[in-house]
Amino acid sequence: MRHFLDLADWSSEELMRLIDEAVFLKKEFRTGGNRPILQGKSLAMVFQKPSLRTRVSFEMGMQQLGGYALYISPNEIGLGKRESIADVARVLGGYVNGVMARVFAHEHVTELAKWSPVPIINGLSDYNHPCQAMADVLTIYEEFGQLKGLTLAYLGDSNNVTRSLLFAAAKFGFKMVVSSPAGYALDEETLDKAAGIGGYQVVQLVSDPQEAVRNADVIYTDTWTSMGQEEEAEQRRKVFPPYQVNYPLLQMASAHTIVMHCLPAHRGEEITDSVADGPQSRLFPQAENRLHAQKAILVQLLR
Ligand code: CP
Ligand code: NVA
Repeated sequence: MRHFLDLADWSSEELMRLIDEAVFLKKEFRTGGNRPILQGKSLAMVFQKPSLRTRVSFEMGMQQLGGYALYISPNEIGLGKRESIADVARVLGGYVNGVMARVFAHEHVTELAKWSPVPIINGLSDYNHPCQAMADVLTIYEEFGQLKGLTLAYLGDSNNVTRSLLFAAAKFGFKMVVSSPAGYALDEETLDKAAGIGGYQVVQLVSDPQEAVRNADVIYTDTWTSMGQEEEAEQRRKVFPPYQVNYPLLQMASAHTIVMHCLPAHRGEEITDSVADGPQSRLFPQAENRLHAQKAILVQLLR
């Protein structure tokens, strides 16, 4: 049984085929609509956290491919509380053809995958966000027509989104420069895992954010406080301001540099309005690409 939990579990060739399929499905969707290749297929969407993009893009993606998606809210099934994850996995597997889950602990998606008779898709955990990274890669590929040799500078908190981007860099052959305040850097295990896939040149840690963006084709940022870390928000607001993606910082990069953010954005914190709404922003095409990238994943796993 194949699951989509971590880009590290998929080969570079398989991931590139998913991007090619996403390009195809996007074009097909825009020129008359997708063929109903997932007709009769259903997806359960289990959420332990809020969501706009993940929820709507998976639901619409299933519908546009002729399938059905069922939203299960954080308070409904009590994953691991009302019922064990092993039991939830086996029960859901009797009703649906696939499960997308957004969880706190990454072990919750791996535990679902361990027991599930149907494919599990990771819709974000505290560890990573692989569907986001696939949409991001699609966006970068559309912009530059290639991935190899590009440089993505990531500024701010080294979190779930950073980790999946790093594994994407290792798999697709672009370079990542990460600039985070002391105490908020990527862990050694993640750096070693990325190096094991793509070599040590895949990532460079640079403390000065201005230096980090100098050769960047893409500047990427995310919230300083992820879901589940709300009690740390005040402390984080004190250390992260030098890593804000603002107009003066963007001026340090090139005219061709694009800006990305997985959203939701906290405007005035990690990104300013002038950048988020400026000509180099790709925030909304990037959000739209969640739909197209995930369709490719759904087709691969459920067809
Ligand atoms: N980027 C992203 O996953 O957004 P949501 O939390 O709204 O799903
Ligand atoms: N790092 C953020 C991403 C939200 C899509 C979080 O985990 O809250």
